Amino acid sequence: MRKRKNIITVAIDSPAAAGAGTQAKLISKKYNLFYLDTGKIYRYIGKLKLENENFNYTLVKNKVSKIKLAYLENNLLLSDEVAISASIIAKDKHIRDIVHKFQQKCAYNPPKHYRGSVLDGRDIITVQVKDAMFKFYITASLKIRAKRRYEEYKKLNKKIPYREVFKSLKNRDKSDRSRKYGPLKKTKDSILINTSKLSKKACFKKIRTIMDKKLNY
Ligand code: C5P
Repeated sequence: MRKRKNIITVAIDSPAAAGAGTQAKLISKKYNLFYLDTGKIYRYIGKLKLENENFNYTLVKNKVSKIKLAYLENNLLLSDEVAISASIIAKDKHIRDIVHKFQQKCAYNPPKHYRGSVLDGRDIITVQVKDAMFKFYITASLKIRAKRRYEEYKKLNKKIPYREVFKSLKNRDKSDRSRKYGPLKKTKDSILINTSKLSKKACFKKIRTIMDKKLNY
């Protein structure tokens, strides 16, 4: 695959609801980078699985090759049911290989008017964009993440008890961390950011300081 030269690449991994998406969006805006929330692709495939009796690799390959980025903004992808299905199909190496190709293009060959890319997910710093210029591992305590996700669901009118959100995140953490292919883990060369006690603004300030220093801003 052709790779654009001299672009800024930012790779972020995090457990669910740690605030990585929010920070990735702020980074993309500030530095004019193409943003891909890779979890949305797994959610898209997870939803396909829930809706198709004849779910198979050919269907996934076909659908992912025609995916419209605008569709990834669909609120239907935000349900807990879809998230759970996503974490199940995400264990499958063939599925991960299909998603890998799509992600590589976004990371290394983003549209020309962007100065680079920022991707967030579970295996971005470890597999997808290993050589990224900036690598962040964003986390927060399970309690805080569950509280944040519970509030998000409430805003979307999804009435799920806090206990259930907590349990679901805990199960997903376990599955994402212990799976064989592309497990979530912190690498030595990534910067740890714990958002448990940080506001969105304070967290972004930390990230900006690190990035501006290296970019000589
Ligand atoms: O980030 P989000 O919660 O939307 O991701 C949904 C699921 O997709 C995760 O729990 C994980 O199993 C899977 N995923 C993955 N690799 C990524 C991004 C997401 O396996 N890079």
